[in-house]
Amino acid sequence: MGKFRTLDDIDVRGKRVLLRADLNVPVKDGLVTDATRIERLAPTIKALIDRGAKVIVMSHFGRPKSGPDPALSLRALIAPLEKAIGRKVAFASDCIGDEAKRVVVALEPGQAALLENLRFHKGEEANSPDFARALAELGDIYVDDAFSAAHRAHASIDALARLLPAAAGKLMEAELEALTAALEAPKRPVLALVGGAKVSTKLDLLRFLIRKVDLLAIGGAMANTLLLAEGKEIGRSLCERDMGETAREILTLARERNCRVILPEDAVVARDLAPGASTREVAIDAIPPDAMILDIGSGTAARISSALEEARTLVWNGPLGAFETPPFDRGTITVAEKVAELTGAGRLLSVAGGGDTVAALAAAGVTDELSYVSTAGGAFLEWLEGRELPGVAALAAASDR
Ligand code: 3PG
Ligand code: MG
Repeated sequence: MGKFRTLDDIDVRGKRVLLRADLNVPVKDGLVTDATRIERLAPTIKALIDRGAKVIVMSHFGRPKSGPDPALSLRALIAPLEKAIGRKVAFASDCIGDEAKRVVVALEPGQAALLENLRFHKGEEANSPDFARALAELGDIYVDDAFSAAHRAHASIDALARLLPAAAGKLMEAELEALTAALEAPKRPVLALVGGAKVSTKLDLLRFLIRKVDLLAIGGAMANTLLLAEGKEIGRSLCERDMGETAREILTLARERNCRVILPEDAVVARDLAPGASTREVAIDAIPPDAMILDIGSGTAARISSALEEARTLVWNGPLGAFETPPFDRGTITVAEKVAELTGAGRLLSVAGGGDTVAALAAAGVTDELSYVSTAGGAFLEWLEGRELPGVAALAAASDR
């Protein structure tokens, strides 16, 4: 991780601070259904307000196809944002131009405004220098607190960071600190827990983690592909039949790198993926031909638990079973509870991220008991692939100026 400035390194008093946030939160019928990202952003806004800045919040929201789309207006975020920071937030119905300038000029130190969806202008996703200059006209200082969008080389993340003095916000700082603690200089042994449906979407992640961690436990449907590659019969389980060779390469790489791989030794199976389906727990070499593997079995959960006892650091991405459909959430919940217990006892540093993972941890009720749960989906995954994130690189480059 490169060095970058933080809020403590900049003087914001009386200055216009352009704050890149990620307000891309789930909204249903005009209401925010999960405010986590807003709550995690609030301390940065409050700190800037307390220090007498004029705070101008910018964000994308959804993926508008071309131009303004009322269904993707950030207006819906004014009230939730006001609630999170405990004060009024002005709104500009365009993120650049005269309307934005009018709203910014009216701000007093300690006041905040929200700009309309950045993606209503195609210059945002195109990383257009002209669009970035139009944004830069609105501020004196740039603060990036959108780690969860740091994998996008967009104008408000990349080009803009190169035009103004730039610093990381508190959430960005916390995300980077947690990921660094887990993967750059971790306490060993390090265990990576990887789940989810497909090996094919996580190849780079597996290859990177194998080089970094001591133990790799794999669950979810992606484990089926690896089991099949090892010659196991997996019945009607979801798997990627054409990934056999790649799966074997992954397992060979792990052996070469002395990374111990833990694959399921037993499984919860059913004929169909349906709520309350009648289930059976069977050993992994006794999967009935007409059955589907839908969760790790209790033996596997116990094996992962003892690996967790041994580990000092955990990186977790992906649920271990079909957790949205009980009772196939059992394995993920059992392991999540163990992680929470060891973290609480000070025996484990635990970092988790990725959309489904965060939902699974919330369902298990342990989100607040892990050392760190990332707000990021794609950006967390790209970090676990060892890729440089444009947003992080831009902050590092800005600190050299
Ligand atoms: C996210 O929700 O993962 C980020 O806000 C990035 O959104 P995007 O995938 O539409 O770029
Ligand atoms: Mg996304």
